[in-house]
Amino acid sequence: MAQVSLNNVSKFFPGNIQAIRDINLGIENKEFVVLVGPSGCGKSTTLRIIAGLEDASSGDVYIGDQRVNDVPPKDRNIAMVFQNYALYPHMSVYENMAFGLRLRKYPKAEIDSRVKEAAAVLGIEKLLHRKPRELSGGQRQRVAVGRAIVRKPLVFLFDEPLSNLDAKMRVQMRTEIKKLHIRLQTTMIYVTHDQTEALTMGDKIVVMRDGVIHQIADPIKLYDKPINKFVAGFIGSPPMNFIKGPIVKKEAKYYFNEGRFRVRIVDSMTKAIEPYADKEVIFGIRPEDIYDKLFVSEAPPDNTIKATCEVIEPMGSEAYLFLNTGKNPLVAKVGGHNKPTLNQDMDLVFDMSKVHFFDKDTENTIV
Ligand SMILES: Nc1ncnc2c1ncn2[C@@H]1O[C@H](COP(=O)(O)OP(=O)(O)OP(=O)(O)O)[C@@H](O)[C@H]1O
Ligand SMILES: [Mg+2]
Repeated sequence: MAQVSLNNVSKFFPGNIQAIRDINLGIENKEFVVLVGPSGCGKSTTLRIIAGLEDASSGDVYIGDQRVNDVPPKDRNIAMVFQNYALYPHMSVYENMAFGLRLRKYPKAEIDSRVKEAAAVLGIEKLLHRKPRELSGGQRQRVAVGRAIVRKPLVFLFDEPLSNLDAKMRVQMRTEIKKLHIRLQTTMIYVTHDQTEALTMGDKIVVMRDGVIHQIADPIKLYDKPINKFVAGFIGSPPMNFIKGPIVKKEAKYYFNEGRFRVRIVDSMTKAIEPYADKEVIFGIRPEDIYDKLFVSEAPPDNTIKATCEVIEPMGSEAYLFLNTGKNPLVAKVGGHNKPTLNQDMDLVFDMSKVHFFDKDTENTIV
């Protein structure tokens, strides 16, 4: 069993740099957990504390039932895959994969069977005699993963393992690592700054900023119910649109007033929004919840707005419209065949059942 837990863990680096602020994180046995957040938010530091490559300044780290704060990395039964692979250039692929087991004095036959098994899992049997310089980036990445697999660790740690690969290879390796997880049934903790990688890979996603965990949730919950404006803007691509403006009440109905347009707030949200009547809030709508009215069968006037389209970015199956309301920019993600005339007023429909509201001061989600 290999649950991992961090209890009230903080990390200070010399110079009073606080990289991690009192984080609490529980990872279940066999779970695939992704730590995601912008550069410098403390993802690698968290991973390195789990690996034992850094000490926690305070708090407890558990792997299984054991408190491991004082256990050296080599005795933690974890394997880590880094962004820069860290393969030994003078050793063959086989030797690179066997090296850790040799150090641990495993019998030769055992080493041989583990290396061959891992090579088969990763489809690199034919590369075993090559040196790292004779491999492509993707192949090197597989060797680095292979070196971790042969250890049969309780927990795999990945620190941005795909960021040196080209876009296509990244997508392919993403699927391979997922398959590997299903096959090995081992706890995996994966660090990335890429929200797409996080959404597509994680059973559970931990969103961090400035050394703090903002939200821990599964991908759908994170997308549908972000806890604050930061998570809402970080998860999803293109990012959610945010507009500041007041809530107004008229004849028992609530509206968000942008200045150039006004949209009606659905009944299910009014209870939460009531206290904000006549106050400024931040309105959030995802690009995919904005439609070109020409393609909508039913468009109530109180969620239809006018804007001009300044740029169209065709993406094949969909297109991104870069719009302007006259007061605020907006991005809409529409069907690939929507081609509005540029710089001319057009009608857009908001799916008001999907919008979000955030407190202007705390930036926490209102509804
Ligand atoms: N050895 C160190 N000494 C001093 N400060 C450090 C050290 N390592 C990391 N930091 C600082 O701690 C913070 C968190 O760093 P960390 O490497 O964990 O970020 P990250 O989320 O992995 O970022 P990235 O996406 O850029 O890899 C940063 O502000 C960084 O400058
Ligand atoms: Mg990092």
